[in-house]
Amino acid sequence: MLERSDLAENALQALHDEAYDTPFNTQTLNHEGMIFIGGRKARSLAGEWNFCVDLLDTGLRQKWFALEEMAATERTEPWDYDPHEGETVPVPACWQMLKDRWYFFEGSVWYSRCLDMDAITRDKRQFLRIGAAQYDCKIFLNGAFLGNHYGGSTPFFCELSEHLKAGRNWLMLMVNNTRTLDRVPMRNTDWFNYGGIYREVALYQTPRVVIKDLFAYLVPDNGYNKIAVEVSVDGDVREARVDISQLGISDTITLDEDGRGRIIFDARPDLWSPETPNLYDIKLSAGSDHVSDRVGFRQISRIDDEIHLNGNAVFLRGISVHEDDVTHGKMTDEADLRRRFADAKELNCNFLRLAHYPHHEQAAQLADEMGFLLWEEIPVYWAIDFDNQATYRDARNQLLELIKRDRNRASVIIWSVGNENPDTDVRLRFMQRLVATAKSTDPTRLTSAACLVNHAKNRIEDRLAEHIDVIGINEYYGWYEENFDDLVAIGENSSPGKPVVISETGADGDISETGPRTGLFSEAYMSEVYEKQIATLRHLSYVKGISPWILYDFRVERRQNIFQRGFNKKGLIAADKITRKKAFYVLADFYAQKRQAQREGEKNHDH
Ligand code: GCU
Repeated sequence: MLERSDLAENALQALHDEAYDTPFNTQTLNHEGMIFIGGRKARSLAGEWNFCVDLLDTGLRQKWFALEEMAATERTEPWDYDPHEGETVPVPACWQMLKDRWYFFEGSVWYSRCLDMDAITRDKRQFLRIGAAQYDCKIFLNGAFLGNHYGGSTPFFCELSEHLKAGRNWLMLMVNNTRTLDRVPMRNTDWFNYGGIYREVALYQTPRVVIKDLFAYLVPDNGYNKIAVEVSVDGDVREARVDISQLGISDTITLDEDGRGRIIFDARPDLWSPETPNLYDIKLSAGSDHVSDRVGFRQISRIDDEIHLNGNAVFLRGISVHEDDVTHGKMTDEADLRRRFADAKELNCNFLRLAHYPHHEQAAQLADEMGFLLWEEIPVYWAIDFDNQATYRDARNQLLELIKRDRNRASVIIWSVGNENPDTDVRLRFMQRLVATAKSTDPTRLTSAACLVNHAKNRIEDRLAEHIDVIGINEYYGWYEENFDDLVAIGENSSPGKPVVISETGADGDISETGPRTGLFSEAYMSEVYEKQIATLRHLSYVKGISPWILYDFRVERRQNIFQRGFNKKGLIAADKITRKKAFYVLADFYAQKRQAQREGEKNHDH
């Protein structure tokens, strides 16, 4: 295994080649390799995987992925890690939550396991899907490098078909969560830098002809009487068949030479809304491939400074939420998600901001069923290397993976492309391109970003506002900004001409027994901030939604004072996801009033 380096006669490749990772950064696993999985049978690869931390990337330097499986006694050369044996960890999971010594570990790790296959037939294709791996994930099968993916919160696929053999295969995933200057997010975030394969890993077997994408939506022309279905198929077929039986739709879609097709049907579906979360079963087949989905049809639009759902002005009674758990870190499950929506319902919400990255796909699936509107976003957060083309490529890919994953979800109404980025020329160019990408990939939703107030002019003014539909504003008057009167002045000085969503506001409240009783970080002070914020925001006519920061206290390295101790305490509910703070009820009361007013408005409108 000791490869000589061409650097010098006495040099060794594994020790002196600092470009060792270049061949493994192809980023070929990206949105283009996605296939549609709705209705498919998945072979879950969840369970115990062999695991090893690898701080110095010894695995890539020494090529651990090339080690043949054999008994230690048979080896003729020394080795530093044998992927075929050693300690194991559960997949999915965040490694920081598994062992104290891995809590702050940041670097590369290796997951590996056997993959037993029956006879391999060439009329089938095998796709490995990783629900999410934080941040860089390199895939190796039977010693061959198959590609890598950047991005910590979106799914990606790797086709294994040509590399699998009948019987025992060896699958290895190297995951690296190091924060770097060119990644998205960069190095400094106000949420914990988890790592690992923390969402489902599964194998999908398909025919040779594979349905890559299905996008079904109500044509947003205010007619509410046309449904568009767009499909993408990989394989030698020139038509696909679509059925929405409850609407009497059953027809053939002609595919072009690239396997793409689009069809528009006349139909009058019962519209989807939070109050009426109507969903329709849609089936699509091409060749011998079959997929399905459950889709709600609705129209979301912006008219002047109003947000309209199905033609009715709507106020977004929201709350922000991270994907974070005191025990499981960034890993979530259905029970955790159902609790999240139940708590939001108790708060009288109709809207959630899924911050600051794409959440588990089940969040939008449940929001479709339970009736919530969602803001989804990519982690173009704080400082980003906006002038770096590789960084833009990464951000764009994460956005496309998010949109392709969730664009059949009626609950998702806003794609957000950034959070609290400085209003500079390079950032504006970067964001304009992302917004254009979102609009061209999905013309049926609104675009936004969480912007900052222009403190020099003391008003809402960000050049990006011209290019997005909804202006998100993060403001913390009463907390970071101690002069609360400035918020009133900003309200009077601003005339955004578009709907504004206060995408963040709030304050910390430490309700533990060591928490303060008065002043900053006390529950009482947090509640007062909410009262003052509501008293001011409710009079700003262009504010069409609020998603205060945040539903639950959450883990973060950068908060270490005696009241935070590694957690951000702005949660309306403590990290136990049970204990409500006083501000929870202040907001719930306000939202109950807004909901009542909306209902009365609709009643008057109907008369
Ligand atoms: C910022 C940021 C959040 C952060 C919050 C806070 O606005 O967007 O990610 O957690 O403020 O300071 O608590």
